[in-house]
Order: sequence, then C-alpha cells, then structure tokens
Amino acid sequence: MAELSKEILIHRSDIAKRVQELADEISRDYAGNEILMVGVLKGAFIFMADLVRAISTPCHTDFIRAASYGAGSESSGHIVITKNVELAIEGRDVLIVEDIVDTGLTLRHIVDTLSLRNPKSIKVCAFLDKRKRRKVPFEADYVGFTMDDGFIVGYGLDYSEQYRFFPDVYVIQTRVD
Ligand code: PRP
Repeated sequence: MAELSKEILIHRSDIAKRVQELADEISRDYAGNEILMVGVLKGAFIFMADLVRAISTPCHTDFIRAASYGAGSESSGHIVITKNVELAIEGRDVLIVEDIVDTGLTLRHIVDTLSLRNPKSIKVCAFLDKRKRRKVPFEADYVGFTMDDGFIVGYGLDYSEQYRFFPDVYVIQTRVD
C-alpha cells in the first residue's frame, strides 16, 4: 500500500504574504483598467480565490481547463482545451492565473490559443515556477515562488486528485510497503 510522507515547503503565512505582494504589484500595473482574470482549472482555484480578493483593480473572472495526454505525470506536449473561456476576450486585459509552470507546455498552448481572440494584453501569474523543467521557452509575468524539482501538493496542487485542500504546500514522497 502506498503511504505518504510529507514535508512542509511553503507555510500558509508565507503564502498569504506573497499573494498580497503579487496582488499589490498587479494592482499597480493595471491601475485604471479592468482585468479579465482567467483561472486554469483545477489547480489554480485556491490561488485565484485569494489573489482576486487581494487585488484592488476591478476584475471579471472566468476559467479555462486544459488536458495533457501522455504517460504518467509528464506532459506529452499534446494539449487540448477541454473547457474554454466563455466571456469575450477581444480588447480585454487578460491575466491568466495558474498554480504551477512546469514544462511550460500547458501555458504556452493556452497563451497562444487565447491570443488568437485578440485581447488588448495577455499576461500570466503563476503561484509556482519550476524553471529548470521547461521543455518550451515560457516566462510568467508574475511568479509567487520558484522551486527545483520535487512532487508538491496543497494550495490547489494534487497528487491523484488528493490533497488539494491542504492550506500549506508540501513536498511529498510515496512509500510502497
Ligand atoms: C498541472 C498544472 C498546470 C500544468 C503545468 O495541471 O496545474 O496546469 O500541469 O504543467 P506543464 O507546465 O508541464 O504543462 P494538471 O494537468 O495536473 O491538472 P490540474 O490543474 O487539474 O491538477
């Protein structure tokens, strides 16, 4: 049976502090405008809920979902949008909110796809960035924390759909007995 051992990586108090810093930066950058905030389901739902409430700029909100088809936990590069943004994008300042950038394949595809709908601007805010794992070049405009490799859960991030609800971020290892 697989057993979980977990070690805290980012405490909830550090998350809250960093989210407020990001929100302040975003509020300054978009002052006088209105943001169309697009959360990438499912992982971003907790980060986005905190971020949108900490930003002083008016926001409309919508969601997108992408699936990556491939073996195991690795992105194959074949990304399919399974739920698209429903609000109009043309002429809007779009801010995509994501829990993690890993290979970069998901966000590269989402940005390229949404850009075809002629937004006024399109930027990305990612809670976590695993920079060293990129398979395609991708830079988020706002990043909460950068990290090296390691399997992480909590604050929206899952392991086989478990542990998204943890208020802190943990590095996990599964032990098979
Ligand atoms: C995760 C994460 C990103 C993507 C990042 O989503 O939320 O969307 O993978 O990986 P990449 O940079 O290598 O493309 P996942 O497919 O696990 O779905 P989830 O958000 O529903 O957990």
